[in-house]
Amino acid sequence: MQHVLESQQFDRKGLEELFALADTLEGVRNTSLQGKIMASLFYEPSTRTRLSFESAMQRLGGTVISTENAKEFSSAAKGETIEDTMKMMNQYADVVVLRHFEEGACNRASQVATIPVINAGDGPGQHPTQALLDLYTIQKEVGKTDGLHITAVGDLKHGRTIRSLAYLLARYENISLTFVSPPELSMGADILEYLRARGVLVIETEDLESVLADADVVYMTRIQKERFADAGEYEKLKGKYVLTRAHADAMKQGSIIMHPLPRVDEIAPDVDMSEKAVYFKQAGYGLTVRMALLSKLVS
Ligand code: CP
Repeated sequence: MQHVLESQQFDRKGLEELFALADTLEGVRNTSLQGKIMASLFYEPSTRTRLSFESAMQRLGGTVISTENAKEFSSAAKGETIEDTMKMMNQYADVVVLRHFEEGACNRASQVATIPVINAGDGPGQHPTQALLDLYTIQKEVGKTDGLHITAVGDLKHGRTIRSLAYLLARYENISLTFVSPPELSMGADILEYLRARGVLVIETEDLESVLADADVVYMTRIQKERFADAGEYEKLKGKYVLTRAHADAMKQGSIIMHPLPRVDEIAPDVDMSEKAVYFKQAGYGLTVRMALLSKLVS
């Protein structure tokens, strides 16, 4: 594996190896990547992905160069292409973590890369490292991956995290996926087709309450204001789904509530106290999964 561009790259064996490595890295600080440099190049805002990758690299003894608002503060503002920027990164760093506002930008960068490129989110396309930490969270917190019923809620049209997770879940046996969204924000036909072709049971509904009791995982997502061309359309749809403490209590024992974060208003604050709420822990698992990825990619 040279680059991490999309979730479909990972098969069960690769996932098991990666997660076994992540298990050994919890709380670790070592010098295994001493002398190595990670460039984090973010053309869109981020808290978790950028800082957890940077923390992961430093915990492994490596160093970081970064531009957190590359759209404004890199030479992209002067018209430089992603390909030309990548040709610079080839000379300055040993690995690039790239978040971009255009779907496919990371693939384009990888075409001219001589160092590994990690897709840290490309517009509404994919966010494969989020999917890896999501799956790791499910294994840790539910204790299995085969035979699961996952309910994804919210902006499934623009949500790159759930798109990437869907590809990974299709690797497992006896998976059911319920997609809860208004018709305007429904999951893309490409993902629905991919899942059904692989034997995943897919249900689409607008009604959150009717599907809560059956779920092993409720995966909430934010309505992505920044992806709407029409502000009025966003105003119409925002606040459509809010998971309350009563909803959390109605979920079955052993089930969990996940969210890639950031949260706006789609999970009420008092849900945080429920033992089912694992979304902050989920973000923490991102650190060890990203340490494992960097260990595998950078040598
Ligand atoms: N989940 C996620 O990608 O968060 P950030 O946008 O803060 O990186």
